[in-house]
Amino acid sequence: MSENFGVFGTAVSTAHPSLALIKYWGKQNIALNLPATPSLAVTLDCLTTETHVEISRPVDGEEVSDRVFLDGILQREDRFAPFFTGFRKLTDKMKPGMGRFVVTARSSSDFPTAAGLASSASGFAALSCACTAAVGLELPAEELSAMALIGSASAARSIYGGFTRLDAGSKAAVSVYGENWWPEFRIIVLELEKEPKNLSSREAMERTRLNSPYYQAWIDDSRVLMERSVDALGGRNLDALGPLIRNSYLRMFATMFAADPPIIYWKPGSLAIIQFCDRMRSDGFSVWETMDAGPQVKLFCLQNDVPAIRNRLIGEFNNLNIRICRPGGPPSVRGRIET
Ligand code: PMV
Repeated sequence: MSENFGVFGTAVSTAHPSLALIKYWGKQNIALNLPATPSLAVTLDCLTTETHVEISRPVDGEEVSDRVFLDGILQREDRFAPFFTGFRKLTDKMKPGMGRFVVTARSSSDFPTAAGLASSASGFAALSCACTAAVGLELPAEELSAMALIGSASAARSIYGGFTRLDAGSKAAVSVYGENWWPEFRIIVLELEKEPKNLSSREAMERTRLNSPYYQAWIDDSRVLMERSVDALGGRNLDALGPLIRNSYLRMFATMFAADPPIIYWKPGSLAIIQFCDRMRSDGFSVWETMDAGPQVKLFCLQNDVPAIRNRLIGEFNNLNIRICRPGGPPSVRGRIET
């Protein structure tokens, strides 16, 4: 088949980050990017990544590479290479006549990137949906999830709305409950800083696996927390779920603190919020914090408590960017084939 220069197809997808209640931290298989711990997460409606993809045909003999721009800045090719290799394997299988092509993706988020707000989850979920739509493929959610996982394991969960789980060693996430399962459930996202982290979660996970003496205990304990959390979520019981959420993030960080050299994503402001949450609980609020690979803190609570918690936070902290989220829906996607 001769290769004609020109656009083959375009697509645009929006996706939301997946915030873990029970955390994934550590890889069982690095080449396949399989998680070592199970995770339970909720998709956040108030944060969005939008990704535009163009698939074009290079002219005969032209050497071209796939390109990804985040907020207009060209990203390192190696970060996306495994994802695009996976995407090509899929198109070879499902669209055998397609021939050579090159992907150009432009992505932007309405929240800071690589700062502990799960931009890689929404980013790779949107990229998976947009790439497949731009070549005219309609995949079941589980296959999209498997594709997103190659880029970032948490992205496998962002393919679904509502509550999702990704089991240890699993190649794809599954839906646990849709976004309407718990209408009163709220997530308060507190943004302390916009700067990208200086240690990627990928590098930090590997360091934790290689030299934290608590790594195996963390993995064993995660399984227990996971099963208890799924039960608490099934009963829509925040008083039962909250302590498990807290155990999960604190045990994840305890394992990181014990690495050599230690991994410390926390900032003084993060600890101040953690301690403030504890005070709010003493005052009778069911509010439970969590953190990821960055200084931001997210709180889980129920709708009725949001105004009071918000007022208390505003009264206590300056310069805190507060977003109130609900469980969000799955990615949206629109594609167009040109040829
Ligand atoms: O999927 P990654 O590589 O961005 O790692 C996500 C890790 C945590 O956010 C800390 C936990 C999680 O389960 O999302």
